[in-house]
Amino acid sequence: MSKELIRLSDCFMKFDDDVILDHINLYINDKEFLTLLGPSGCGKTTTLRIIGGFQKPTSGDVFFDGVRINDVPPHKRKVNTVFQKYALFTHMNIFENVAFGLRVNKVPDPKDPKRMIKVPESEIKERVEEALALVNLAGYGKRSVNSLSGGQQQRVAIARAIVNRPQVLLLDEPLGALDLKLRKDMQIELKRIQQQVGITFIYVTHDQEEALTMSDTIVVMNEGKIQQIGTPEDIYNEPKNAFVADFIGESNIIDGVMHEDYVVGMYGRKFKCLDKGFAPNEPVDVVIRPEDIDIVPEAEGQLTGTVTEVTFKGIHYDIIVDFRGFKWLIQTTDYSPVGAKIGVKIDPDGFHIMKKSQYSGTFGDYSSYSSEYDELNEDRLEDEEDGDEE
Ligand SMILES: Nc1ncnc2c1ncn2[C@@H]1O[C@H](COP(=O)(O)OP(=O)(O)OP(=O)(O)O)[C@@H](O)[C@H]1O
Ligand SMILES: [Mg+2]
Repeated sequence: MSKELIRLSDCFMKFDDDVILDHINLYINDKEFLTLLGPSGCGKTTTLRIIGGFQKPTSGDVFFDGVRINDVPPHKRKVNTVFQKYALFTHMNIFENVAFGLRVNKVPDPKDPKRMIKVPESEIKERVEEALALVNLAGYGKRSVNSLSGGQQQRVAIARAIVNRPQVLLLDEPLGALDLKLRKDMQIELKRIQQQVGITFIYVTHDQEEALTMSDTIVVMNEGKIQQIGTPEDIYNEPKNAFVADFIGESNIIDGVMHEDYVVGMYGRKFKCLDKGFAPNEPVDVVIRPEDIDIVPEAEGQLTGTVTEVTFKGIHYDIIVDFRGFKWLIQTTDYSPVGAKIGVKIDPDGFHIMKKSQYSGTFGDYSSYSSEYDELNEDRLEDEEDGDEE
């Protein structure tokens, strides 16, 4: 059984009059890969800084192994951090960059634990080589920082952070500076390192795919509040509200009503679903993932609509379909031309029913699917409005 290692208890954070973290409650298990996921400014870095001890919450407590650590300074916490800008020392070679943390730290003398001594040179060598091997950079010790690619430099930063054998590694968007291909490779690499070393990773990203790929647990945040905590599967399959459904993957989110257990209504029709426990006729948000919708001949459809846009995506088509003014995204390998009248079929497990929330009605309509085109239009509109004023 995994054991709780870190707990944030009712952490509240204010800068001036702005609420940055709104009563965060969260625990992190030993050896877990936990990801804080959310849009820019939602409070991810602030949460990480509180765990690292670089920032104190305005109120609330931080516990490590059951002990309150609010007043423990960063260097006394069993935590190390990898930042987005990993700032290696360019005047030192790779070996010295990794060894740095060991050289500045003193450790108890094995012969007399009350005495603090420098880490012996032989141990530094052994541990640096072990750390470099772990990030697949064995033999790179003598190379200069500038002779390495971005991905290799990132790995040096990780070696530097794990060489001290922290119990927890905090990673703040560590792959942000890498291009897509390298980022994907490093995601797999990081997961391997975490499992091999067996330490707790608390990872920050705003990239939902990255979070789904790497994490044991995802914490979805927005505007300083935790929206949902769960496994990648939970978060994807059972989003708690329209914000989560929209932020994780693509979602059509439609106004509906739960007639009774296992029966949801939309567009004045009834559909079988797998959800229960709502009040009779409770208004709900209905999430339908684009890949859970089958296109069928118009006469066989549970609903019928008109195709307004088709984009070839390599493996599938993104098809936008207008159902009485509300536009859905459907992902399918079957081609339907623009203008076609089609029917759709959705199996009961394709419906995900959510309680109404403050986010209802704000997400899940694909009317502005071709965002680039729309943004251009918006710019033009604004220009025209400006023009009118003059
Ligand atoms: N020292 C500070 N003083 C004032 N406001 C701050 C301070 N640090 C952070 N903030 C504000 O707190 C909010 C949350 O910031 P934070 O850096 O935690 O967000 P984030 O989720 O990490 O965002 P990003 O994805 O852009 O890194 C932002 O609105 C930010 O402007
Ligand atoms: Mg941040």
